[in-house]
Amino acid sequence: MTSTARSCLAIVLAAGEGTRMKSDKPKVLHQVANRSMVGHVLAVLTEAGATKTAVVIGPGREDVEKEARKSLPNVRIFVQRERLGTAHAVLSAREVLAEKPDDVIIAFGDTPLVRTETFAKLRAPLAGGAAVVVMAFEPKDPSGYGRLITADGQLLAIREHKDATETERSITLCNGGLMAIQGDLAMTLLDKVGNDNAKGEYYLTDIVEIARELGHRTAIAVVPEEEVHGVNDRAQLADAERMIQKRLRSAAMAAGATLVAPETVFLSYDTSLGQDVIVEPHVVFGPGVTVEPGAVIHSFSHLEGARIASGAGIGPFARLRPGAAIGPKAKVGNFVEIKNTDLGAGAKVSHLTYLGDASVGAEANIGAGTITCNYDGYNKYRTEIGEGAFVGSNSSLVAPVIIGDGAFVGSGSVITESVPADALALGRGRQVVKEGWAVEFRAKAKAAKGK
Ligand code: UD1
Ligand code: CA
Repeated sequence: MTSTARSCLAIVLAAGEGTRMKSDKPKVLHQVANRSMVGHVLAVLTEAGATKTAVVIGPGREDVEKEARKSLPNVRIFVQRERLGTAHAVLSAREVLAEKPDDVIIAFGDTPLVRTETFAKLRAPLAGGAAVVVMAFEPKDPSGYGRLITADGQLLAIREHKDATETERSITLCNGGLMAIQGDLAMTLLDKVGNDNAKGEYYLTDIVEIARELGHRTAIAVVPEEEVHGVNDRAQLADAERMIQKRLRSAAMAAGATLVAPETVFLSYDTSLGQDVIVEPHVVFGPGVTVEPGAVIHSFSHLEGARIASGAGIGPFARLRPGAAIGPKAKVGNFVEIKNTDLGAGAKVSHLTYLGDASVGAEANIGAGTITCNYDGYNKYRTEIGEGAFVGSNSSLVAPVIIGDGAFVGSGSVITESVPADALALGRGRQVVKEGWAVEFRAKAKAAKGK
């Protein structure tokens, strides 16, 4: 049987306290690339072929449960009532372990950088009969990690740092914490784990020695340190962000996007950049952005929840908010904010404009300083601007309002009623001119000051 055909239960441990984050928010809900750490882990496990996934949370952590369900609706949640160690945490999911899946993967909710292929690599030896597979790595600084005790290439045991002798501490091959376990053995091995050690905890790592004593084979999968990077504090969170950004930028460039200065562009886990997209320096992509081939995102733009069609130009200094849909070859210029608005093909919004809850037809031109007044403090209203319409500069469009196809709105208008197609609307007072008024005014002003 190949490992993909085998059933696989993934258990994500997330009952830690995360004290060092100094946060009101549970550690695993902190985000990297705009997705919670536990969200990343659940997504990767699903890609790696987990057929059932469980998350072990601490008591009262409904927020973690909610986030886990948002990421993976059929996830199973188990509460670890007391934090008695990693083996004890895994056994909180006893109910699903009892179903004896072919493979069991143990992952950590605060270790978000493990790649899909790596979980596959971790599972692979199970298909060949190994009882336990340990994710191993060679850290720059091994202190604090469990050490892998090997002989003739065989993994014999894992010794936690606190329990290790000086000689054992000199071992540089360490436990990344993540494991794969043969499903029909998992409960037997875990139930034999005791807590006679320096921390008085039930260590998951003890199952290696237990498996060996029962005559089973164990294996290791060596991975780069980056993948087992765990987040315990804000500095490690920033490190995780840096590493994930590097991956996302590389993937975007490999897919044919130009990032002029990649280190200045921030992507989200789900940012999609088409071929020949150009992203200038200093652009931030929040979640939910799709940029179709050939569009250009100029510097200092901030985009989230937006779709940008082929050949469109955004920025510099543009802000696209959720629900912005920019049509092919449309242009969004500097200091323009667009929310929940469809901008038609070839439409132009070149400067200093707010469009919210609107639709703008193809080839329409929205002048500088146009504002859709979409909110009265209680409700939001829509503005519809037709194809080829021309909205003069500094106009306020008080929604709900419709500007017909091909209509003109004079500069400085306050438009409160709909404008028919091809009409001109002047929503402002007539200009008044008083010849010589300024001369008279200055004379009076000087006299009053006694000059
Ligand atoms: C663990 C490993 C160690 C490895 C290191 C890698 C054990 C005993 N040790 O140590 O060999 O080098 O990871 O980072 O497994 N958790 C619970 N409930 C508990 C205890 C832990 O859910 O009762 C969760 C934590 O939230 C965390 C994970 O399990 O996500 C690991 O626990 P942690 O206490 O950080 O283990 P380490 O001491 O780092
Ligand atoms: Ca840890």
